[in-house]
Amino acid sequence: MRVRGAPAIGIAGAYGVVLASFEPRSFSREARRLREARPTAVNLAWAVDRMLRRAEREGAEPGQLLEEAQAIHEEDRLACEAIGRAGQEALADRVLTHCNAGALATGGIGTALAPIYVARAAGRDVQVYATETRPLLQGARLTAWELSRAGVPVTLVADGAVAGLLASGRVGAVLVGADRVAANGDTANKIGTYAIALAAARHGVPFYVAAPASTFDLSTPAGDRIRIEERSPDEVRTAGGRRTAPARVAAWNPAFDVTPHELIAGFVTDRGLLRPPFETSLGGAFGGRTLGPPRLP
Ligand code: MRU
Repeated sequence: MRVRGAPAIGIAGAYGVVLASFEPRSFSREARRLREARPTAVNLAWAVDRMLRRAEREGAEPGQLLEEAQAIHEEDRLACEAIGRAGQEALADRVLTHCNAGALATGGIGTALAPIYVARAAGRDVQVYATETRPLLQGARLTAWELSRAGVPVTLVADGAVAGLLASGRVGAVLVGADRVAANGDTANKIGTYAIALAAARHGVPFYVAAPASTFDLSTPAGDRIRIEERSPDEVRTAGGRRTAPARVAAWNPAFDVTPHELIAGFVTDRGLLRPPFETSLGGAFGGRTLGPPRLP
């Protein structure tokens, strides 16, 4: 969790492979360990596999691998900008977001936050509601910090306030990031996303997901096949490092949940805004890029 946010994890994983290549004897083992470090965000496996394909072609040579990691980094920066442009149509003047899918989670200006930055730069008065995002508070600690630092008006809400906020009519659209999108559009994102999508559907608020190509995993047919990372129960039994529940009480702490594709109005991607039916639109945008896993050198 020193590096978090799906695209940033992928970029860090790629640089990690470069470091691993300085030690040829443990290279394969370390690359595998990196690949498995966070199981839900597919960007990590995607980036490590891409690095290993380069190593397969040209040998695990640090200089070549650094070039590949820098290319991954730069492509993500450009993807964020493309997402920012593609998201203008999905954006409303009052937007709700969850967790952190901004500059702190990517190699550029973010995924879900990118359209907001682009709109503000063009003079549009977009304001943001950000959820706290229990248990690790990425919304409060990161999104609220990032947006207010950029001069974007942001209002923090407790996760439990979301349904009431959507019912109040104050939010025109929901825009969140993603950790893995399956071929049918089912989307894994930070825990609590599914509940927000349900409430948005109930109140007729369009729910959009923003993500770069590296987050789309067309080899996974549907969301029930996505592995959800479970984290320490202590994250739920504490808040901001202070114990808030009896130490021995049981706690369940999945880090992500899966939002069924039926609740998603569209995907804001670096290949444009993709609408349902997603099997067709995602297949058309990302279908050609699925490659087999590399052989570890
Ligand atoms: O556990 P984290 O902080 O790495 O969670 C990932 C996320 O930041 C979110 O789920 C985010 O919405 C998608 S990544 C841009």
